[in-house]
Amino acid sequence: MLTKIDLKEYFNKLSESYITNEYASFFITNFMRRKLIKKIKNLENKSVLDIMSGKGENLKYINQKNTKITTIDFASKMNEAAKSKHKNKIINQIENDFFKVNHNSKSFDIILCSFGIKTIEPEKLNLFTKQISDMLKPNGEILLLELVKPKRAFNFKIAKFYLDVFVPNICGKQFKVLFPYVKNHINMNQLKLNIINEKIQIIEHKRYLDLFEIIHAKKKY
Ligand SMILES: C[S@@+](CC[C@H](N)C(=O)[O-])C[C@H]1O[C@@H](n2cnc3c(N)ncnc32)[C@H](O)[C@@H]1O
Repeated sequence: MLTKIDLKEYFNKLSESYITNEYASFFITNFMRRKLIKKIKNLENKSVLDIMSGKGENLKYINQKNTKITTIDFASKMNEAAKSKHKNKIINQIENDFFKVNHNSKSFDIILCSFGIKTIEPEKLNLFTKQISDMLKPNGEILLLELVKPKRAFNFKIAKFYLDVFVPNICGKQFKVLFPYVKNHINMNQLKLNIINEKIQIIEHKRYLDLFEIIHAKKKY
């Protein structure tokens, strides 16, 4: 059972120590983000939207001068940190709840979301997909990355010990909320079905290390 928390407040508070996430994962999370962005063949002259962008962790892999970057995140502290970390980039930061932004734009070639999906309430997953679809240009691509509950009992035990005991004790109690979300996030199959229902073609849906899943999809109309 998940305890309902104010995510905006939580992430504002977490922003200072968010980097410890990277250290605690031995940079595997960074490796996965890089893997996600590498799936995009061409970023030249593309308009990219990073949803639930945090401190701009994905942006370090987008270095093409002519790529237009937009981010959406409701936590102001995360946005401030992203801005100061990526001073060399022009970023259109939208500070709002993703579910409240104007989505009838069809203006993005690429839509990214890394590590933001597990906190979306299941009843909002449909809306999430619909909004992405509405914001995506024809031939646009979607790239989603998230932690999932390991399928193998042994891997689950290791993940539980690591995320529920080791990380909160070593990096701080604020990370204790992470494991219940991962445990609750069985896979991205429902999200994949929602994407298919939007008539968007799945290019790839793959699990890595029994702990991460990536969905890569492309709109054909
Ligand atoms: C776990 S962090 C992920 C950040 C980053 N994408 C990464 O790869 O590390 C989740 C981020 O999503 C934001 N977020 C969560 N729900 C949101 C919503 N409904 N609208 C906008 N931002 C949201 C939080 O403020 C936080 O910065």
